[in-house]
Amino acid sequence: MCGIVGYIGQNQAMPVLIKGLKKLEYRGYDSSGIAVFSDHLQVVKTKGRLADLEEKIKTDGSINGCVGIGHTRWATHGAPDDVNAHPHTSSNGRISVVHNGIIENYLPLRTELEKKGYTFVSETDTEVVAQLFDAYYNGDMVDTMIRVIQKIRGSYALGVLCQEKPDEIIAVRKDSPLLVGLGNHENFIASDIPALLEYTKDYYLLNDNEIVVLKKDCVTILDMEKQEISKEIYHVTWDISTAEKGGYDYFMMKEIMEQPTAIRATLSPRIVNGEIQLDSIQYTTEDIKNINRIHIVACGSAWHAGLVGKYVIEDYARIPVEVDLASEFRYRKPILHPNDICIIISQSGETADTLAALREAKRQGIRILSIVNVVGSSIARESDDVLYTWAGPEIAVATTKGYSAQIALMYLIALKFGQARGYISTEEIKQLVAELENIPSQIETLLKQEGEWKALAKAHAQIPNAFVIGRGIDYAVALEGALKLKEISYIHCEAYAAGELKHGTISLVEDGTLVLAIATQDALYEKLVSNVKEVKARGAYVIAIAKEGNTEIAEVADNVIYIPQITDSFTASLDVIPLQIFSYYVAVERGCDVDMPRNLAKSVTVE
Ligand code: AGP
Repeated sequence: MCGIVGYIGQNQAMPVLIKGLKKLEYRGYDSSGIAVFSDHLQVVKTKGRLADLEEKIKTDGSINGCVGIGHTRWATHGAPDDVNAHPHTSSNGRISVVHNGIIENYLPLRTELEKKGYTFVSETDTEVVAQLFDAYYNGDMVDTMIRVIQKIRGSYALGVLCQEKPDEIIAVRKDSPLLVGLGNHENFIASDIPALLEYTKDYYLLNDNEIVVLKKDCVTILDMEKQEISKEIYHVTWDISTAEKGGYDYFMMKEIMEQPTAIRATLSPRIVNGEIQLDSIQYTTEDIKNINRIHIVACGSAWHAGLVGKYVIEDYARIPVEVDLASEFRYRKPILHPNDICIIISQSGETADTLAALREAKRQGIRILSIVNVVGSSIARESDDVLYTWAGPEIAVATTKGYSAQIALMYLIALKFGQARGYISTEEIKQLVAELENIPSQIETLLKQEGEWKALAKAHAQIPNAFVIGRGIDYAVALEGALKLKEISYIHCEAYAAGELKHGTISLVEDGTLVLAIATQDALYEKLVSNVKEVKARGAYVIAIAKEGNTEIAEVADNVIYIPQITDSFTASLDVIPLQIFSYYVAVERGCDVDMPRNLAKSVTVE
């Protein structure tokens, strides 16, 4: 996915665009560019990071004008290079476009336009939009936009400049996020809020195929029939420093340290006098009793949070839970029962596969409950009920506080549904809720040990590969721990159900192989210890994660990381912390860009 910024006002556009793109670099950073209107459209773009673009602007001579659009790219069609970078311009230079998404029918459209004499210079799908806009241009940007939208298929957030309309930007979105920032004699478009914060906290959220015409002193939003739409103004409640690093080297460490706050903010509005209140979702006791099955659908770490959810919901509410990867769910012809519900988990609320899975479940008529961290995001707006995680903006590509807040809501749902279905007494609820409320301070205690784990990480930073093993909920956490290590340090790390290792994969274990073994589930502990012995017998170096008071594990493992005592169902919130810190320091030791790992993007809004 990519980052888009647009500016129209009384100040120079270039600095605003560059600053905004820097706030969006986490969305994609393999190339970038801007188009600014002075007496003509000036375009500067380049492969590489934003610093390279700034350098190029300096050497190309400054770019003046008060209207402009900018883009930072995560390549889908066409390698990251100067030509494929956005903005893309029509052959005659009249139209300039920035785009986030995928135009699925770009090839036939390109052929059609080539027959009309248009010449293409890039490999991208986006260049087709610029040429199409020019081909359809009739002097009215809205008419032209409508015709373009009717022709293209796929996902898009588009910002468009026209040489003949120097006092306006036109924009639209479908499936890719786009906000409209409302300023004083200046207005903005952006893919995400951090790009706006320095200038305004007031914004519109666009729905699919709502067309916005941005002028210095006026913002008009129209539907596909050119009818004006009035929109609610959203106001950002957090400040720009929240979206800044706060003195940490990387956003990821800041967000690891923010997990106690994120969990408290997510739990406390929903726990009143020891009782769980999920008021933002319209589920009566009868509704909960009638639930036939729960389908949890997500991607990546959100899917790992869903796996934790499966264990705790089946344990406490005795409702069958299936957990699906969204990219599989949407195509496997899922068999859904009218009394099933679908829980969609997504930090960004914009992940394309997850949004598509939501729409498939909705098409089959089942109720959608989503767990999302971004207010008003596409997934939130298409759900029947939303439980927001209040983790605050998460900038690092590798999620930490977003994931932890998702797990916290999994616990609340499990307990609330279990109580409604008569499996948990009022007394038990109070005790379990008290444990949940204690999790943030237990994490704070754990985080004080991060220095010890730093040393352990440095000692293992050059390993070629690793395993993370566990049983039950520990296996779900092992998946998250393995992903953290892989995605920021580029070490190949495999999570394995500890009991499954002996069915083949243990052949990979040899002298010095690092195995992180999560050993917190009392009922499965002896089995886990056997699995540790199996890998030890083949030369593995084992770092175990166990609950305080377990002295026996130290006789089996080479090193032990202890977490505070907690009900086994809730250990996921604690044993993920050392895995996050370990991965972070391994990545730092290996000189990786922790916040923006290679090949990745914060939210994958394309298939
Ligand atoms: C996690 O560290 C990754 N960044 C990735 O797996 C992420 O969890 C996944 O892309 C889902 O994103 P979402 O929660 O925004 O839908």
